[in-house]
Amino acid sequence: MVADHLRPAADLVAALPPSPAVWCTGLRKRYRGRHAVDDVSFQVGRGEVVGLLGPNGAGKTTVIKMLLGLVHPDSGEAMLLGGRSGDPAARARVGYLPELFRYQPWLTAYEVLTLHMRLAGISLTERDRRDGLARVGLGERAGDRVGGFSKGMQQRLGLAVALVAAPELVVLDEPTSALDPVGRADVRDIVLSLKERGVAVLLNSHLIGEVERVCDRVVILDRGRVAASGSLAELLGQRELRLHLTGLTPPAESRLAETGVVEREGDWFTVALPADDDGVLVPDLVRDLAALDVRVHAVEPARISLEARLLGILRAGEGGAQ
Ligand SMILES: Nc1ncnc2c1ncn2[C@@H]1O[C@H](COP(=O)(O)OP(=O)(O)O)[C@@H](O)[C@H]1O
Ligand SMILES: [Mg+2]
Repeated sequence: MVADHLRPAADLVAALPPSPAVWCTGLRKRYRGRHAVDDVSFQVGRGEVVGLLGPNGAGKTTVIKMLLGLVHPDSGEAMLLGGRSGDPAARARVGYLPELFRYQPWLTAYEVLTLHMRLAGISLTERDRRDGLARVGLGERAGDRVGGFSKGMQQRLGLAVALVAAPELVVLDEPTSALDPVGRADVRDIVLSLKERGVAVLLNSHLIGEVERVCDRVVILDRGRVAASGSLAELLGQRELRLHLTGLTPPAESRLAETGVVEREGDWFTVALPADDDGVLVPDLVRDLAALDVRVHAVEPARISLEARLLGILRAGEGGAQ
Protein backbone atom coordinates (compact mmCIF):
# COMPACT_ATOMS: atom_id res chain seq x y z
CA MET A 1 0.00 0.00 0.00
CA VAL A 2 1.23 3.49 -0.86
CA ALA A 3 0.18 6.41 1.36
CA ASP A 4 -1.86 9.00 -0.52
CA HIS A 5 0.71 11.77 -0.28
CA LEU A 6 3.33 9.44 -1.83
CA ARG A 7 1.14 8.33 -4.70
CA PRO A 8 2.36 10.88 -7.27
CA ALA A 9 5.94 9.74 -6.69
CA ALA A 10 4.95 6.06 -6.84
CA ASP A 11 3.06 6.67 -10.07
CA LEU A 12 6.07 8.46 -11.50
CA VAL A 13 8.34 5.56 -10.67
CA ALA A 14 5.84 3.02 -12.01
CA ALA A 15 5.66 4.94 -15.28
CA LEU A 16 9.43 4.82 -15.77
CA PRO A 17 10.65 2.39 -18.39
CA PRO A 18 11.95 -0.85 -16.86
CA SER A 19 15.63 -0.81 -15.96
CA PRO A 20 17.86 -2.39 -18.59
CA ALA A 21 18.84 -6.03 -18.14
CA VAL A 22 22.51 -4.98 -18.06
CA TRP A 23 23.89 -1.51 -17.51
CA CYS A 24 27.55 -0.78 -16.99
CA THR A 25 29.70 2.30 -17.21
CA GLY A 26 33.44 2.94 -17.08
CA LEU A 27 34.39 -0.63 -16.10
CA ARG A 28 38.15 -1.03 -15.62
CA LYS A 29 40.28 -3.92 -14.41
CA ARG A 30 44.05 -4.25 -14.32
CA TYR A 31 45.97 -7.49 -13.88
CA ARG A 32 49.68 -7.22 -13.16
CA GLY A 33 49.76 -3.58 -14.21
CA ARG A 34 48.05 -4.25 -17.55
CA HIS A 35 44.54 -3.22 -18.44
CA ALA A 36 42.42 -6.31 -19.07
CA VAL A 37 39.35 -4.07 -19.31
CA ASP A 38 39.66 -0.36 -19.93
CA ASP A 39 36.63 1.93 -19.71
CA VAL A 40 33.89 -0.37 -20.97
CA SER A 41 30.29 0.87 -21.01
CA PHE A 42 27.24 -0.70 -22.64
CA GLN A 43 23.67 -1.79 -22.04
CA VAL A 44 21.48 -4.76 -22.78
CA GLY A 45 17.77 -3.93 -22.96
CA ARG A 46 15.05 -6.25 -21.64
CA GLY A 47 14.47 -8.99 -24.17
CA GLU A 48 17.45 -7.93 -26.23
CA VAL A 49 20.17 -10.31 -27.47
CA VAL A 50 23.59 -8.68 -27.41
CA GLY A 51 26.84 -10.27 -28.52
CA LEU A 52 30.12 -9.40 -26.86
CA LEU A 53 32.74 -10.09 -29.53
CA GLY A 54 36.47 -9.90 -29.75
CA PRO A 55 39.66 -11.92 -30.10
CA ASN A 56 41.09 -14.08 -27.30
CA GLY A 57 42.27 -11.95 -24.41
CA ALA A 58 40.14 -8.95 -25.41
CA GLY A 59 38.56 -8.86 -21.94
CA LYS A 60 35.18 -10.44 -22.65
CA THR A 61 35.20 -12.89 -19.74
CA THR A 62 36.52 -10.24 -17.34
CA VAL A 63 33.66 -7.91 -18.31
CA ILE A 64 31.11 -10.67 -17.71
CA LYS A 65 32.62 -11.54 -14.34
CA MET A 66 32.50 -7.89 -13.27
CA LEU A 67 28.85 -7.67 -14.33
CA LEU A 68 28.03 -10.71 -12.20
CA GLY A 69 30.00 -9.47 -9.21
CA LEU A 70 32.54 -12.31 -9.49
CA VAL A 71 35.46 -9.95 -10.15
CA HIS A 72 35.70 -6.60 -8.40
CA PRO A 73 36.24 -3.74 -10.88
CA ASP A 74 39.04 -1.22 -10.20
CA SER A 75 36.52 1.42 -11.19
CA GLY A 76 33.17 1.74 -12.88
CA GLU A 77 29.70 0.55 -12.05
CA ALA A 78 27.45 -2.27 -13.17
CA MET A 79 23.78 -3.05 -12.61
CA LEU A 80 21.78 -6.13 -13.51
CA LEU A 81 17.97 -6.00 -13.80
CA GLY A 82 17.92 -2.77 -11.80
CA GLY A 83 19.99 -4.13 -8.87
CA ARG A 84 23.66 -3.59 -8.15
CA SER A 85 25.85 -6.28 -9.64
CA GLY A 86 26.53 -8.95 -7.07
CA ASP A 87 23.26 -8.18 -5.25
CA PRO A 88 21.85 -11.67 -4.53
CA ALA A 89 18.25 -10.63 -5.34
CA ALA A 90 19.22 -9.47 -8.83
CA ARG A 91 21.65 -12.34 -9.30
CA ALA A 92 18.88 -14.86 -8.57
CA ARG A 93 17.12 -13.75 -11.76
CA VAL A 94 20.23 -14.22 -13.91
CA GLY A 95 21.28 -17.47 -15.57
CA TYR A 96 25.01 -17.84 -16.16
CA LEU A 97 27.02 -20.28 -18.22
CA PRO A 98 30.69 -19.80 -17.26
CA GLU A 99 33.47 -20.22 -19.79
CA LEU A 100 35.29 -22.85 -17.75
CA PHE A 101 33.46 -25.10 -15.36
CA ARG A 102 33.43 -28.64 -14.06
CA TYR A 103 30.55 -30.44 -12.48
CA GLN A 104 31.00 -33.15 -9.89
CA PRO A 105 31.87 -36.12 -12.14
CA TRP A 106 30.12 -38.66 -9.89
CA LEU A 107 26.71 -36.97 -10.26
CA THR A 108 24.27 -37.71 -13.06
CA ALA A 109 23.04 -34.90 -15.33
CA TYR A 110 19.68 -35.06 -13.53
CA GLU A 111 21.38 -34.75 -10.15
CA VAL A 112 23.47 -31.76 -11.29
CA LEU A 113 20.33 -30.00 -12.45
CA THR A 114 18.54 -30.84 -9.20
CA LEU A 115 21.49 -29.54 -7.17
CA HIS A 116 21.43 -26.23 -9.02
CA MET A 117 17.67 -25.99 -8.71
CA ARG A 118 18.10 -26.28 -4.92
CA LEU A 119 20.99 -23.78 -4.93
CA ALA A 120 18.73 -21.36 -6.80
CA GLY A 121 16.05 -21.89 -4.13
CA ILE A 122 13.38 -23.03 -6.55
CA SER A 123 11.45 -26.24 -6.91
CA LEU A 124 10.62 -27.94 -10.18
CA THR A 125 8.70 -31.09 -10.86
CA GLU A 126 10.58 -34.10 -12.13
CA ARG A 127 8.89 -33.52 -15.48
CA ASP A 128 10.20 -29.91 -15.66
CA ARG A 129 13.71 -31.08 -14.86
CA ARG A 130 13.57 -33.72 -17.58
CA ASP A 131 12.20 -31.13 -20.02
CA GLY A 132 15.09 -28.84 -19.09
CA LEU A 133 17.56 -31.57 -20.03
CA ALA A 134 15.64 -32.45 -23.19
CA ARG A 135 15.74 -28.80 -24.28
CA VAL A 136 19.54 -28.98 -24.50
CA GLY A 137 19.52 -32.41 -26.14
CA LEU A 138 20.35 -34.43 -23.00
CA GLY A 139 16.91 -36.01 -22.57
CA GLU A 140 18.32 -39.51 -23.10
CA ARG A 141 21.36 -38.91 -20.86
CA ALA A 142 19.59 -37.70 -17.69
CA GLY A 143 20.71 -40.76 -15.71
CA ASP A 144 24.33 -40.82 -16.98
CA ARG A 145 27.25 -39.65 -14.90
CA VAL A 146 28.79 -36.33 -15.89
CA GLY A 147 32.28 -37.86 -15.61
CA GLY A 148 31.61 -39.73 -18.84
CA PHE A 149 30.34 -36.67 -20.74
CA SER A 150 32.21 -35.12 -23.66
CA LYS A 151 33.07 -31.42 -23.41
CA GLY A 152 30.17 -30.62 -25.71
CA MET A 153 27.73 -32.56 -23.51
CA GLN A 154 29.05 -30.78 -20.42
CA GLN A 155 28.49 -27.48 -22.19
CA ARG A 156 24.90 -28.53 -22.96
CA LEU A 157 24.40 -29.41 -19.30
CA GLY A 158 25.87 -26.01 -18.34
CA LEU A 159 23.27 -24.39 -20.53
CA ALA A 160 20.47 -26.40 -18.87
CA VAL A 161 21.79 -25.25 -15.47
CA ALA A 162 21.91 -21.60 -16.65
CA LEU A 163 18.25 -21.82 -17.70
CA VAL A 164 16.94 -23.89 -14.78
CA ALA A 165 15.52 -21.00 -12.72
CA ALA A 166 13.61 -19.28 -15.59
CA PRO A 167 15.96 -16.26 -15.54
CA GLU A 168 15.12 -12.80 -16.92
CA LEU A 169 18.69 -12.38 -18.13
CA VAL A 170 20.96 -15.13 -19.43
CA VAL A 171 24.71 -14.58 -19.67
CA LEU A 172 26.54 -17.13 -21.81
CA ASP A 173 30.34 -17.10 -21.92
CA GLU A 174 31.43 -18.97 -25.08
CA PRO A 175 28.37 -21.25 -25.08
CA THR A 176 29.34 -23.05 -28.28
CA SER A 177 33.12 -23.36 -27.94
CA ALA A 178 33.01 -27.16 -27.47
CA LEU A 179 30.01 -27.87 -29.67
CA ASP A 180 29.74 -29.41 -33.12
CA PRO A 181 27.66 -27.65 -35.81
CA VAL A 182 24.46 -29.38 -34.65
CA GLY A 183 25.11 -28.27 -31.08
CA ARG A 184 25.72 -24.73 -32.27
CA ALA A 185 22.44 -24.69 -34.15
CA ASP A 186 20.72 -25.98 -30.98
CA VAL A 187 22.19 -23.14 -28.92
CA ARG A 188 21.07 -20.68 -31.57
CA ASP A 189 17.51 -22.03 -31.38
CA ILE A 190 17.57 -21.87 -27.58
CA VAL A 191 18.74 -18.23 -27.67
CA LEU A 192 16.03 -17.37 -30.18
CA SER A 193 13.35 -19.03 -28.04
CA LEU A 194 14.59 -17.08 -24.99
CA LYS A 195 14.32 -13.90 -27.00
CA GLU A 196 10.76 -14.78 -28.02
CA ARG A 197 9.87 -15.10 -24.34
CA GLY A 198 11.34 -11.65 -23.60
CA VAL A 199 14.47 -12.97 -21.85
CA ALA A 200 17.55 -10.78 -22.36
CA VAL A 201 20.72 -12.57 -23.46
CA LEU A 202 24.32 -11.42 -23.27
CA LEU A 203 26.39 -13.80 -25.34
CA ASN A 204 30.15 -13.77 -25.47
CA SER A 205 31.76 -15.48 -28.39
CA HIS A 206 34.65 -15.49 -30.79
CA LEU A 207 32.49 -17.52 -33.20
CA ILE A 208 31.20 -14.68 -35.28
CA GLY A 209 28.86 -16.61 -37.53
CA GLU A 210 26.76 -17.72 -34.56
CA VAL A 211 26.52 -14.21 -33.21
CA GLU A 212 25.57 -12.78 -36.55
CA ARG A 213 22.50 -14.99 -36.71
CA VAL A 214 21.04 -14.35 -33.27
CA CYS A 215 22.14 -10.95 -31.97
CA ASP A 216 20.18 -7.70 -32.17
CA ARG A 217 23.32 -5.77 -31.34
CA VAL A 218 27.00 -6.44 -30.86
CA VAL A 219 29.70 -4.83 -28.75
CA ILE A 220 33.19 -5.42 -30.13
CA LEU A 221 36.01 -5.48 -27.60
CA ASP A 222 39.65 -5.10 -28.55
CA ARG A 223 42.43 -5.07 -25.95
CA GLY A 224 40.01 -4.17 -23.18
CA ARG A 225 38.25 -1.34 -24.98
CA VAL A 226 35.02 -1.06 -26.94
CA ALA A 227 36.23 -0.83 -30.53
CA ALA A 228 32.74 -0.57 -32.01
CA SER A 229 29.14 -1.27 -31.09
CA GLY A 230 25.74 -1.08 -32.69
CA SER A 231 23.07 -3.07 -34.45
CA LEU A 232 24.24 -5.43 -37.15
CA ALA A 233 22.63 -3.14 -39.74
CA GLU A 234 24.61 -0.20 -38.39
CA LEU A 235 27.89 -2.08 -38.23
CA LEU A 236 27.54 -3.84 -41.54
CA GLY A 237 26.26 -0.84 -43.39
CA GLN A 238 23.94 -0.93 -46.33
CA ARG A 239 23.12 -3.83 -48.51
CA GLU A 240 24.24 -3.75 -52.09
CA LEU A 241 22.96 -5.25 -55.29
CA ARG A 242 25.25 -6.49 -58.03
CA LEU A 243 23.73 -6.66 -61.51
CA HIS A 244 25.13 -8.04 -64.73
CA LEU A 245 23.39 -6.11 -67.52
CA THR A 246 23.79 -5.62 -71.26
CA GLY A 247 21.87 -3.52 -73.75
CA LEU A 248 21.64 -0.60 -71.33
CA THR A 249 19.96 2.51 -72.79
CA PRO A 250 19.96 6.03 -71.26
CA PRO A 251 16.41 5.61 -69.86
CA ALA A 252 17.49 2.31 -68.24
CA GLU A 253 20.57 4.01 -66.80
CA SER A 254 18.47 6.69 -65.18
CA ARG A 255 16.06 4.05 -63.86
CA LEU A 256 19.06 2.34 -62.26
CA ALA A 257 20.33 5.61 -60.77
CA GLU A 258 16.88 6.20 -59.20
CA THR A 259 17.45 3.13 -57.02
CA GLY A 260 20.72 4.25 -55.44
CA VAL A 261 24.32 5.21 -56.08
CA VAL A 262 25.64 3.12 -58.98
CA GLU A 263 29.20 1.95 -59.60
CA ARG A 264 30.08 0.37 -62.93
CA GLU A 265 32.76 -2.12 -63.91
CA GLY A 266 32.25 -3.27 -67.49
CA ASP A 267 28.83 -4.93 -67.62
CA TRP A 268 28.60 -5.24 -63.82
CA PHE A 269 26.74 -2.60 -61.86
CA THR A 270 26.79 -2.28 -58.08
CA VAL A 271 23.84 -0.38 -56.61
CA ALA A 272 23.75 0.72 -52.96
CA LEU A 273 20.27 -0.10 -51.66
CA PRO A 274 18.61 2.35 -49.27
CA ALA A 275 18.31 1.12 -45.67
CA ASP A 276 14.50 1.41 -45.70
CA ASP A 277 14.05 -1.04 -48.59
CA ASP A 278 10.88 -3.00 -47.80
CA GLY A 279 11.57 -5.79 -50.27
CA VAL A 280 9.88 -4.41 -53.42
CA LEU A 281 12.84 -2.42 -54.68
CA VAL A 282 14.75 -5.22 -56.35
CA PRO A 283 11.84 -6.96 -58.11
CA ASP A 284 10.48 -3.58 -59.29
CA LEU A 285 13.88 -2.61 -60.65
CA VAL A 286 14.33 -5.89 -62.51
CA ARG A 287 10.82 -5.65 -63.97
CA ASP A 288 11.43 -2.06 -65.19
CA LEU A 289 14.87 -2.87 -66.63
CA ALA A 290 13.40 -5.80 -68.57
CA ALA A 291 10.56 -3.56 -69.80
CA LEU A 292 13.24 -1.13 -71.05
CA ASP A 293 14.76 -4.00 -73.09
CA VAL A 294 17.81 -4.43 -70.88
CA ARG A 295 19.19 -7.99 -70.79
CA VAL A 296 19.45 -8.99 -67.12
CA HIS A 297 22.07 -11.76 -66.77
CA ALA A 298 22.54 -11.78 -63.02
CA VAL A 299 21.11 -10.19 -59.89
CA GLU A 300 23.15 -10.82 -56.73
CA PRO A 301 22.51 -9.42 -53.28
CA ALA A 302 25.77 -8.51 -51.55
CA ARG A 303 26.49 -7.73 -47.94
CA ILE A 304 29.74 -7.48 -46.08
CA SER A 305 29.94 -10.23 -43.44
CA LEU A 306 30.34 -9.49 -39.76
CA GLU A 307 33.60 -11.39 -39.84
CA ALA A 308 35.05 -9.13 -42.54
CA ARG A 309 33.83 -6.04 -40.68
CA LEU A 310 35.27 -7.27 -37.39
CA LEU A 311 38.66 -7.91 -38.96
CA GLY A 312 38.55 -4.41 -40.48
CA ILE A 313 37.81 -2.86 -37.07
CA LEU A 314 40.52 -4.85 -35.28
CA ARG A 315 43.15 -4.13 -37.95
CA ALA A 316 42.30 -0.43 -37.93
CA GLY A 317 42.84 -0.50 -34.14
CA GLU A 318 46.29 -2.09 -34.55
CA GLY A 319 47.36 0.58 -36.99
CA GLY A 320 46.07 3.35 -34.71
CA ALA A 321 46.98 3.96 -31.04
CA GLN A 322 50.10 2.48 -29.37
N1 LIG B 1 42.73 -13.77 -12.99
C1 LIG B 1 43.56 -13.20 -13.86
N2 LIG B 1 44.85 -12.93 -13.52
C2 LIG B 1 45.70 -12.34 -14.39
N3 LIG B 1 45.36 -11.97 -15.64
C3 LIG B 1 44.10 -12.21 -16.04
C4 LIG B 1 43.14 -12.84 -15.18
N4 LIG B 1 41.97 -12.93 -15.86
C5 LIG B 1 42.18 -12.39 -17.08
N5 LIG B 1 43.47 -11.96 -17.19
C6 LIG B 1 44.04 -11.32 -18.39
O1 LIG B 1 43.14 -10.31 -18.83
C7 LIG B 1 43.05 -10.29 -20.24
C8 LIG B 1 41.61 -10.50 -20.67
O2 LIG B 1 41.23 -11.83 -20.40
P1 LIG B 1 39.75 -12.38 -20.63
O3 LIG B 1 38.78 -11.46 -20.02
O4 LIG B 1 39.72 -13.79 -20.19
O5 LIG B 1 39.65 -12.29 -22.22
P2 LIG B 1 38.63 -13.02 -23.24
O6 LIG B 1 37.53 -13.63 -22.46
O7 LIG B 1 38.20 -11.92 -24.16
O8 LIG B 1 39.45 -14.03 -23.98
C9 LIG B 1 44.01 -11.35 -20.75
O9 LIG B 1 45.23 -10.73 -21.07
C10 LIG B 1 44.17 -12.27 -19.56
O10 LIG B 1 45.43 -12.89 -19.57
MG1 LIG C 1 36.83 -15.53 -22.40
